[in-house]
Amino acid sequence: MKDNFRMQIFSAKSSPIHLNHIVMNYFTHAMIHYELLLFLIFRLCNCLDKISIQYNPIRDIDKTVLVSSGETFALGFFGKPNYRYVGIWYHKIPGQTVVWVANRDNPITDSSGFLSIDTTNGNLVLYHNSNINQTDEVVWSTNASSSACSPASCCVAQLLDSSNLVLLHNITKQVIWQSFDYPTNTILPNMKLGLDRRTGLNRFLTSWKSEDDPGIGNYSYSIDPSGSPQLILYKGQIPWWRAGHWNGIIWSGLPATSVKFPFNASFVNDNNEISYMWNMLDSSILSRIVVNESGIVQLFIWYKGSQRAWNEMWSAPADHCDPYRHCGAFGLCDTGNAEHFQCTCLPGYEPRFPTQWYMRDANHGCARKPGSLICRGGEGFVNVANVKVPDTSRVEVISSGLSLKACEKECLRNCNCTAYAKANISEKGSGCILWHGNLIDTRKLPADGGQDLYVRVDEHDLAKYTKRSKGLLATILVVSGVSILFSIIFFAYWFLKRKRKGQHNLFLNDNIASGESSKEKNLGKSKSHLDLPFFDLRTLITATDNFSTTNKLGQGGFGSVYKGQLISGQDIAVKRLSKYSGQGMEEFKNEVTVIAKLQHRNLVSLLGCCIHKEEKMLIYEYLPNKSLDYFIFDARRGSNLDWTKRFEIVIGIARGILYLHQDSRLKIIHRDLKASNVLLDSTMNPKISDFGMARMFSEDQIQARTKKVVGTYGYMSPEYAMQGLYSTKSDVFSFGVLLL
Ligand SMILES: *[C@@H]1O[C@H](CO)[C@@H](O)[C@H](O)[C@H]1NC(C)=O
Repeated sequence: MKDNFRMQIFSAKSSPIHLNHIVMNYFTHAMIHYELLLFLIFRLCNCLDKISIQYNPIRDIDKTVLVSSGETFALGFFGKPNYRYVGIWYHKIPGQTVVWVANRDNPITDSSGFLSIDTTNGNLVLYHNSNINQTDEVVWSTNASSSACSPASCCVAQLLDSSNLVLLHNITKQVIWQSFDYPTNTILPNMKLGLDRRTGLNRFLTSWKSEDDPGIGNYSYSIDPSGSPQLILYKGQIPWWRAGHWNGIIWSGLPATSVKFPFNASFVNDNNEISYMWNMLDSSILSRIVVNESGIVQLFIWYKGSQRAWNEMWSAPADHCDPYRHCGAFGLCDTGNAEHFQCTCLPGYEPRFPTQWYMRDANHGCARKPGSLICRGGEGFVNVANVKVPDTSRVEVISSGLSLKACEKECLRNCNCTAYAKANISEKGSGCILWHGNLIDTRKLPADGGQDLYVRVDEHDLAKYTKRSKGLLATILVVSGVSILFSIIFFAYWFLKRKRKGQHNLFLNDNIASGESSKEKNLGKSKSHLDLPFFDLRTLITATDNFSTTNKLGQGGFGSVYKGQLISGQDIAVKRLSKYSGQGMEEFKNEVTVIAKLQHRNLVSLLGCCIHKEEKMLIYEYLPNKSLDYFIFDARRGSNLDWTKRFEIVIGIARGILYLHQDSRLKIIHRDLKASNVLLDSTMNPKISDFGMARMFSEDQIQARTKKVVGTYGYMSPEYAMQGLYSTKSDVFSFGVLLL
């Protein structure tokens, strides 16, 4: 059947009518021939991205648009009814994001506009039809040289898939004009920014006037070719924000993270041009950089197929240090400095007008310290790291393969040279930039951003700064030495502790075994290493009236405390550990072990303990005056505590801590010193209590770390609360809080 069809076409070539008939026949008699259909559609779309004399013009009234071959961009009319513009936008992204405008300052006030090729010279021209004399008037034109297209029918305007609208010679494909040479407020991938030295054409961005007026606004974003070329955002003629000079990798003022962005940036500075261009490595990501109406440079991203709006990846100026010369000449801006004032002076400089400066007006910047000798007086350079280097529009650039050392020499040779830096920081980079005179708009960038700036200082400052860095080195050495020592000590301690652990448990079991419980009795030998009496549960039940609530003194960390009276008439305090507290046994053992070994008039004394099945109790001497918090946190009771008494209490607590830390046979960190853990006896003598969280240190141990931070936050030292580091100093910290 297919062969048959081909034969018929072949034989009917001379007669188009006949062919038509056969084709019709074919369609009606056979199924649709897809190849042919696709071919037709393809032809149809292909013409849609071009304007030429042969094709119909694009008319506002028809609402026709030109669509690029990949259907990424569309060209047509947009705007409010009386403000019609020709522009290019993303064809498939909702919301008509306009990336280029032809007649931005010259809107057509009705819908008579149309875009077509001038039949005399081949230019692409936007016409409108004035109602008064019924003639077509030129609103906008590509204005390219007329000789390129003769006859005019050679010229075709085509919208490429990059958004570039090109006017080209149909046969030679020579590009006569392109919209990429006349950017508006947007730069897209593969679009050049910068100066063409051969033609003098400078491509730069200019903001719109307002959201619905694409007219040329206040802000422009262009490459300043002087000195070491910089990308600068201007407000009118005034620099507003510097992206910085090209440092071989990126514009030096951009954050280091922008290097990780999946795009390829190229910068060319040669006899032909100074230009910057980028393209995305991942073609499924659309990107654009816009200078918006408020003078903000924004980078937007769109994942193809995503339904979400444009994502703003980055924008500038963004922080306090971004505005041009925020800290004046020789100032250094660092957002990490202070909440409201980010300015400091570069090394060797001081505020020019200190009063204004300290009133946070950095306008006048800094000046060389009086009396500094920076010309053949033993001067040198101080490295200011990670900065956006000062304005490079008036620098001397030495691009021949000069090493950093040679740059320093070069700068030293000239007494006017105030600073130097590498011209190119990439691996293969070399050469340097030398500043003469003012250093303007220097700012700190986050770590691993920016580059090193070497600032000239006199002998005195040089000594000061090098000493500082030497001092830093010494500190690092000492610190690392000490930490190695600590690690050894800690390891040794840990090793010993492990070896001793078995003995410890045995020792505790011994104590427990001497209790009343028959179960515990079986556990170990009946010998006790401690002179610690074990109380019978029944004795305690009697003493506390079966732990009645009227006898309850308070609720502690891991249980309740009851008042009791032994048959002998002695008052006791019974700390009954909660059955349900998982940590109970641990803390109980700890407290028994610790406190049983301690005897001091400023520590509460343990009279004995009791273990009965799940019940664990500690029996203390009873202190009638409760705890310190009971007094000091109560206005009325507090007033009874005069300063002499308070001072005695403070001394007492200090004595207790001193004993814990260094005077007893052990070294104990209490870890929970607070007002409620200081009990007062009948004479208001303070006694430290609650050793549930205490830790024993070996004599030479200084510090330990725990994963389980326990205690009371208000009294905790920051390194303990945050990193679990504790030492005797933690207790001193808590004591300080208590004192306050
Ligand atoms: C310009 O961009 C900034 C930063 O994204 C934004 O806050 C501001 O609203 C924008 N201005 C306009 C007029 O769109």
